[in-house]
Amino acid sequence: RALRPDQGPLSGRHVLVTSGPTHEPIDPVRYIANRSSGAQGTAIAEALLRLGARVTFVTGPASAAPPMGADVVKVETAAEMLAAVEAALPADAAIFAAAVADWRVETAQARKIKKQAGALPGLSLAENPDILARVAGMAVGRPELVVGFAAETDEVVSHATAKRARKGCDWILANDVSPETGIMGGTENAVTLITGEGAEDWPRMSKSAVADRLAQRLAEALGAGDG
Ligand code: CTP
Ligand code: CA
Repeated sequence: RALRPDQGPLSGRHVLVTSGPTHEPIDPVRYIANRSSGAQGTAIAEALLRLGARVTFVTGPASAAPPMGADVVKVETAAEMLAAVEAALPADAAIFAAAVADWRVETAQARKIKKQAGALPGLSLAENPDILARVAGMAVGRPELVVGFAAETDEVVSHATAKRARKGCDWILANDVSPETGIMGGTENAVTLITGEGAEDWPRMSKSAVADRLAQRLAEALGAGDG
């Protein structure tokens, strides 16, 4: 059921979504990245648009096509993603579905590093800013609802619950990305929604169904906080 943008429960609302991986350059031809197709982030943006939201979609280099109808901002690195997110605020809600590289190479080389027999390039790493934690911790202008993801391979709920507290976000969608689940790169997802009330297992469903359910919950939460 397609809602007209001016009729949906999220009409008049601005939602920011990050998606895809980030690429951290080593030199002009090489980079460090996380695995991410961008499929879940794209599906979330599409679900929000269907409910009438205005969506800013900040995406790293993903294989999934960006959602039609969103304001799309393409970035490469975590630093660029942070800058794009800050430029896109204020927003009523922000969903951080991007798989941000945790580290960047401290000094990316302007010229291609050449292989030399017996000599390995020493890569010195620096930690990237945590975009979700930054936004969740904003003293002024924090979105009403800040949602993160936690991709885990072990002790999914306990790690994700700790992550929610550490990052100061409102909700975490946790998923088990162990290779045997086949979720990474697939069309389905099995998530647990972690809120202040506890953990709620959602059945395994398509990424677009996960997105619809999340968008619905978000609309309810924003609606409840209205006025
Ligand atoms: N995230 C972010 N900026 C970063 C790292 C992560 O915005 N530099 C966001 C992701 O988009 C996701 C959430 O934080 O919504 C959790 O990311 P994750 O990689 O699971 O958490 P980390 O704190 O990086 O912990 P680790 O990778 O060690 O599990
Ligand atoms: Ca990480």
